[in-house]
Amino acid sequence: MPNEYFNPVRSVYGAGALSSLPELLAGRRALLVTFPEARALGLVGRIEQLLGDRLAGVIDDVRPNPDVAELRALYEAFWRDADAAELIVAVGGGSAIDTAKALMVGTASGRFGDLVAALAAGKAFVPARSKMLIAVPTTAGTGSEVTPWATIWDRERQLKHSLHLKETWPSIALIDPELMLSLPPSVTLQSGLDALSHALESIWNVNANPVSDVFAVAAVHEILVTLPLLMAQPGEIDLRGRMALAALKAGMAFSNTRTALAHSISYEMTLRYGLPHGIACSFPLPMVLERALGRRADRDAVLRQALGGPLDDAPRRLTAFIERLGVKTRFADYGVSDEQADRMVAHALTGARGRNFIGANARETA
Ligand SMILES: NC(=O)c1ccc[n+]([C@@H]2O[C@H](COP(=O)([O-])OP(=O)(O)OC[C@H]3O[C@@H](n4cnc5c(N)ncnc54)[C@H](O)[C@@H]3O)[C@@H](O)[C@H]2O)c1
Ligand SMILES: [Fe+2]
Repeated sequence: MPNEYFNPVRSVYGAGALSSLPELLAGRRALLVTFPEARALGLVGRIEQLLGDRLAGVIDDVRPNPDVAELRALYEAFWRDADAAELIVAVGGGSAIDTAKALMVGTASGRFGDLVAALAAGKAFVPARSKMLIAVPTTAGTGSEVTPWATIWDRERQLKHSLHLKETWPSIALIDPELMLSLPPSVTLQSGLDALSHALESIWNVNANPVSDVFAVAAVHEILVTLPLLMAQPGEIDLRGRMALAALKAGMAFSNTRTALAHSISYEMTLRYGLPHGIACSFPLPMVLERALGRRADRDAVLRQALGGPLDDAPRRLTAFIERLGVKTRFADYGVSDEQADRMVAHALTGARGRNFIGANARETA
């Protein structure tokens, strides 16, 4: 089978890049979807000034981990007044961008329940109508600005849905590291580790290809060097820019492979134990790395490029890296017993993301 790499997102990036927004809108009317702190930070005011009467409305109460219960009213109001905006500008972290991805695909009825029912049944959802998306990340982590993936949570039923359609690719990723200067240390850390997880998960992945590998290796190199420096100097725009680019590269990598076992484990850790996504998908990385090594010679070679040094020592070095940043790497540290952890990992291996892991299936073993 030939290899294939595909990513249709136009990326525009650099400090100050937000001022290109009017040009990128090219006269179209946009709805702004953003996070609650954006108004006090002056970001909503700045966008109102930049867009003037091209701004059709503002949704600024997107909370972390968009949930079906919160999305319903937003979605139905958006599609009731469908002509108000031609596109959505999402300014925020993964939560704001994923909210916009849920909004941008319209059901024929305008009811959100029809979309959720299709996701829950694992049925192909064909939007009756859709809007375009300009994604402006304010965290350096999820890579959602260059992927079609959106995570939609259902806390009440203790599950998460994955929305991904050809319509949910953003048209443009507008990446301005100046917008990341206001991130609190906890979110800088969580989102940075999320990006590391995306890069590594795209390597120990049955869908890896030579182009996704190039993005992943570059992202791992950059994050291992930059994240500790950034935690020490969070106001350094140069470091913010490097992390933003690293998260973008990790996004480019897993836009083609999806994630794997660490993310599969993370969903339960977030739903049942309340861990933020970036911690939930990064604390198991050394354990997953240990399981990945020796499975496939080609994956070992790419992991060696990414992590350097002798590979048998790589899990220890990755543990030390994560723990030096103040994140514990054992299940027991999060109140999960060995028995519960074994069950969780076994279950995660059978999930959609878990099955992407090269160690999930004996046939994948080299
Ligand atoms: N679509 C994908 O491929 C993908 C990948 C990974 C994670 N996710 C999802 O993304 C979400 C996590 O996204 P995230 O890590 O970017 O965090 P987030 O969007 O949840 O934001 C975290 C917190 O930081 C605040 N915040 C964001 N930007 C800020 C800024 N510039 N200044 C000050 N505060 C700011 C938010 O209001 C929020 O309180 C999770 O729901 C996760 O499931 C999606
Ligand atoms: Fe993630």
